[in-house]
Amino acid sequence: MTKEEQYQSVLPQIKSLISGETDLIANMANMVAVLHETFGFWWTGFYRVVPNTNDPVQPGELVLGPFQGPIACTRIPYNKGVCGTAWAKQSTVVVPDVHLFPGHIACSSLSKSEIVVPFFKDGQVFAVLDIDSAELNTFDEIDQKYLELLADSL
Ligand code: SME
Repeated sequence: MTKEEQYQSVLPQIKSLISGETDLIANMANMVAVLHETFGFWWTGFYRVVPNTNDPVQPGELVLGPFQGPIACTRIPYNKGVCGTAWAKQSTVVVPDVHLFPGHIACSSLSKSEIVVPFFKDGQVFAVLDIDSAELNTFDEIDQKYLELLADSL
């Protein structure tokens, strides 16, 4: 099966898995599990936008949510790293080689390429989906296209 066929088969499964449940964390957890198991990524998880209590003027920060894979950084500032950049730009960031991305936050030295997709509610980014690969050049416009189809489903 091609990657595109895998996404075409897995997306309806994810949508039906989350359609009967209203709890955000439970749905994030199952979405991450399906993607991680299907594609064998190195790390798959969500960071949620939360208010920054130390500095309420700031737009907030990202805090680690449901994930699969090794332990990860818990907090990421707005506009920092790949995740904070995707949040600030409100658009997907595909990174073929993390070592060439200025300001990349290395939670694991084994991560080599990455995609971060912002998730929206009422037009606002409320979380980002971050997927890491242990190989270079894993993610392309196919991953972007299908992962973005999930971005308003939670
Ligand atoms: N690399 C991310 C940090 C999160 S970990 O990859 C799980 C970044 O630069 O934002």
